[in-house]
Amino acid sequence: MKKSTNVSVSVGFSGILAICLLIGGLLKTGEAGAQTFATGKNEFLLNGKPFVIRAAELHYPRIPKAYWEHRIQLCKAMGMNTICIYLFWNLHEQQEGVYDFTGQSDVAEFIKLVQKNGMYCIVRPGPYVCAEWDMGGLPWWLLRKKDIQVRTLSDSLFMQSSRRFISKAGSILAPLQIQNGGNIIMVQVENEYGVWGNDEKYMTAIRDNIRAAGFDKVQLFRCDWSSNFDRYNLPGVASTLNFGAGSDIEKQFQHFRQLNPEAPLMCSEYWTGWFDQWGRPHETRGVNTFIGSLKDMMDRRISFSLYMAHGGTSFGQWSGANAPPYAPTVSSYDYDAPIDESGHPTEKFYAIRELLKNYLNEGEALGEIPKEPIALIEVPAIKFTQAAPLFQNLPKAVASEAIQPMEMFGQGWGDILYRTQLPASAKAGKLQITEVHDWAAVYIDGKFTGKIDRRLHGNTVNIPALPKGAQLDILIATTGRVNYGRAIIDRKGITEKVVLQQEEKTTELRNWKVYNLPVEYPVKNKLKYSAAKVNGPAWYRAVFNLSKIGDTYLDMSHWGKGMVWVNGRSLGRFWRIGPTQTMFVPGTWLKKTGNEIIVLDVEGAKKLAIAGVTKPIYGINLDESLLHRKPGQQLDLSTATPAITGSLPAGGGWKDILLSQPVQGRYFCFEAMNAQNPTDPITSIAEMEVIGMDGKPVSALNWRVLYADSEDITGAGNTADKVFDMQESVIWQTAREGAKAGHPHALVIDMGTSVQVKGFRILPRGDKKETGVVKDYRFYVQEKPFKY
Ligand code: GLA
Repeated sequence: MKKSTNVSVSVGFSGILAICLLIGGLLKTGEAGAQTFATGKNEFLLNGKPFVIRAAELHYPRIPKAYWEHRIQLCKAMGMNTICIYLFWNLHEQQEGVYDFTGQSDVAEFIKLVQKNGMYCIVRPGPYVCAEWDMGGLPWWLLRKKDIQVRTLSDSLFMQSSRRFISKAGSILAPLQIQNGGNIIMVQVENEYGVWGNDEKYMTAIRDNIRAAGFDKVQLFRCDWSSNFDRYNLPGVASTLNFGAGSDIEKQFQHFRQLNPEAPLMCSEYWTGWFDQWGRPHETRGVNTFIGSLKDMMDRRISFSLYMAHGGTSFGQWSGANAPPYAPTVSSYDYDAPIDESGHPTEKFYAIRELLKNYLNEGEALGEIPKEPIALIEVPAIKFTQAAPLFQNLPKAVASEAIQPMEMFGQGWGDILYRTQLPASAKAGKLQITEVHDWAAVYIDGKFTGKIDRRLHGNTVNIPALPKGAQLDILIATTGRVNYGRAIIDRKGITEKVVLQQEEKTTELRNWKVYNLPVEYPVKNKLKYSAAKVNGPAWYRAVFNLSKIGDTYLDMSHWGKGMVWVNGRSLGRFWRIGPTQTMFVPGTWLKKTGNEIIVLDVEGAKKLAIAGVTKPIYGINLDESLLHRKPGQQLDLSTATPAITGSLPAGGGWKDILLSQPVQGRYFCFEAMNAQNPTDPITSIAEMEVIGMDGKPVSALNWRVLYADSEDITGAGNTADKVFDMQESVIWQTAREGAKAGHPHALVIDMGTSVQVKGFRILPRGDKKETGVVKDYRFYVQEKPFKY
């Protein structure tokens, strides 16, 4: 039987069924043939009828393939009619010119599964996607080009290779556009470009590349924020906004409505929770605030996509990082989403299902909650009796006169060891490494001498007096590449130089032997294991059997820092600092007998055993404080003179303050004297920028918080560095209790270099709450550090 695209001439049982489904408005997309989806006046139109998109974001590489369909069905049961996905360029093209769209990367199969389950699909091919994914989805090999620029027309390598990728993706996915009988209703152009720039020519080129790739019929769209969507125009492309749980819907769309009075409204990323970063508190977002704004959207018939409906896990090396300040994302992408990391519905899930059953489009029905494909199991402690010390299991060295990052040696991810000889010295000295990306352990003649953690801004290790010919080893462990903002050019290893300061002499070290340890190193090579008593970095190996196969979380809380592989697959990273102390193992990757587990620990374990548990464990374990204030420390502004004092108006949006005359300085202090509500003891700020002489914000890439009198880290990490992280939905908020619970509240920032300051900009919180919104302020700029 020939499948017809014209419903009225379909023959046979499936054709009749398709007609019935269409008539009933129950659009089982696979059988209905070609359809239409477009923007209409204030509504999206599916086959000419108003349609509210209720989408759920899922990421196919973050879900083991065997569980794809279960998670799709859960989304349908939650009340969704659409699944939204990114394409991850660097997953599909791990080596330049070599594409892989098979197996776990078979995105076409994923989209067809969505269609099989009677749902539509939104595809976001990037090329930049953000997503807390290594380099925001851009391939590492771009970084081999020394002066690479991304997300701009000025770099031909970026433009050509991204066009090639999009065209490859189009050749596979364009047949799945809804107009061709598939289920793809929309395709996104780039991602939140308004945060990055306003170059319309660049966005036009990306739009045209997407069209040329075969996405020539489908509705295109873009996503931005309410504060920046107006920075550029992109004709022929629908516009949507992203914002977080508990947002004020009226406020979010106010300006948008004024500029686009007839456009359908959509929140293309409604953040259900948030991601965790190493060494910072576990992030959660409450059910009630989340549901409140979702209901508000439904009452206004605003389309939405839940980011994330189910986050899953950034297996292997895929988790990214934010900056400034450099804050790597953990491997779990649980996200406090309605469906948790192991694929189980949470309280948020049931609340959404309860709500959405009242807002279905004509003919739609709520899906059944599917049976879990596999149960969570406990695994009795697996003991490690074999170890392969890192220094005795190195690959062949590559000689390099100058130090270079790993990309220059053709290495994409993993760890790297740099070795050289040091000159003799009768006195102790210092080693200065510029820059460590991202964590370094320094050894002299095999003895651990010190470490550097990029998160903590250090770059120096003290070294003792040295005999002739001492051997220096610098082992670098990496965390994710920055996936957001201008720091995205984030090469790994040592990026510039290593300088030795000895007896008044400064020497740049050269003649390196470089040992590349890519992620697959311990599973692709035969390491020499022996009895497990090792001091220093090592791979540990064990083999275990299971009485029953199931999903489990490995309890890593006795281990230091590294990566875990099970049956040849990397589960991701662990780090004792937390907040995640467990790692998710999908049962589908396990077998009953002979499971091999390998752990690389670069820091050292307390106990060489790992048990499997049925719930994730969270806990912070830091050498340093999370807070930007030492116990008892008190800022003394008695001799400081404000560059300006004033009063901020109430209400949302950026507020620009210009000084009466520019002030030169490296440090600034913002002091909140009270809040808009006079009885409110709290200060909260979403973002702050310092305006330079050209009227533009000065770069905050090297900013550091030196002092914040109070920070609330109880529910979410509301630390003071959130004022320059460029994430408007996460804020600095002072604590409700403690030594410094009342006004004034002060924040001191070291800008890293002296700046001529013309003024500053401040963005109050954008959610429904009014807590802490600053009224009266004092703003100080100084060349010298402030006094405490
Ligand atoms: C933005 C990006 C997403 C993701 C979220 C935060 O909205 O578009 O890719 O990074 O932030 O989780």
